[in-house]
Amino acid sequence: MTARVEVQNLTVRYRDLVAVDDVSFSIPAGSTLGLVGESGSGKSTVARAVVGMITPDAGTALVDGEPVTGRSRRRAAQMVFQDPNSSLNPKLTVRQMLGEALRVHRIVPRGQVASRSVELLELVRLDGDVLDRYPAEFSGGQRQRLAIARAIAVEPTVLVADEPTSALDVSVQSAVLDLLRALRERLGLTVLFISHDLGVINAVADTVAVMQSGRLVEVSERAAFFANPRDPYSRMLLAAVSRLPESAVVSEPPPLSESSPIESPSP
Ligand SMILES: Nc1ncnc2c1ncn2[C@@H]1O[C@H](COP(=O)(O)OP(=O)(O)OP(=O)(O)O)[C@@H](O)[C@H]1O
Ligand SMILES: [Mg+2]
Repeated sequence: MTARVEVQNLTVRYRDLVAVDDVSFSIPAGSTLGLVGESGSGKSTVARAVVGMITPDAGTALVDGEPVTGRSRRRAAQMVFQDPNSSLNPKLTVRQMLGEALRVHRIVPRGQVASRSVELLELVRLDGDVLDRYPAEFSGGQRQRLAIARAIAVEPTVLVADEPTSALDVSVQSAVLDLLRALRERLGLTVLFISHDLGVINAVADTVAVMQSGRLVEVSERAAFFANPRDPYSRMLLAAVSRLPESAVVSEPPPLSESSPIESPSP
């Protein structure tokens, strides 16, 4: 299978700090790579390089074989951030936000922008009649669905999700996770999924990559990672989780359900 994402010898510095140090990995088309590691290990920096938000100091990030620079590449890889409150522009209605994404990249003819926007809302399991509402009128989980709708609006091949459920209420985390998995299947997305939650990684990832202090210390197939992590740091991460009660790490990922509950809008 061809790799949609190829990260080769990626190095990113912030002044004297080497945030990402000679990191290489690839993600085959349609596959999900789960990226884990302690806070500050460089996960988000890798994510930003993959979507072209930052330019590496050395090495490359390729999407579909091309460097992630310029408008077309920015379109090919889209990001969903941890906090929809800061990633959504509060001054734009849903119609304006989705319309802007669809028009900038000429995804559909002008006359079809509104109908495509409704389709996008349906894809993220929101009602089509919320087009003229502002982000503040939605719950946290719904706002993250809106951010996902905007990301997929430009028909990316790669979705980078950086802790997409960590800022959400526990009660809606699994529904958003379920939505992301359903969209991955439906749209054939290749996914880089960042989480500090190994239970979440176990539920979404085909392959697990572990970062420590800017370096990649392990890349393993999911089942192998959870059964027999190779790197001592990976073993430490897993041991820390299995000490917790009600750990989800050893369980199989739950089946992809057809629908998940839609939260009611906040009053
Ligand atoms: N814009 C920046 N300027 C300076 N230093 C930065 C910047 N962004 C990140 N860093 C530093 O680079 C290192 C890697 O940060 P990064 O955000 O990539 O880590 P992370 O693994 O995503 O952490 P977390 O789990 O907390 O989100 C950290 O030491 C961080 O403080
Ligand atoms: Mg981060």
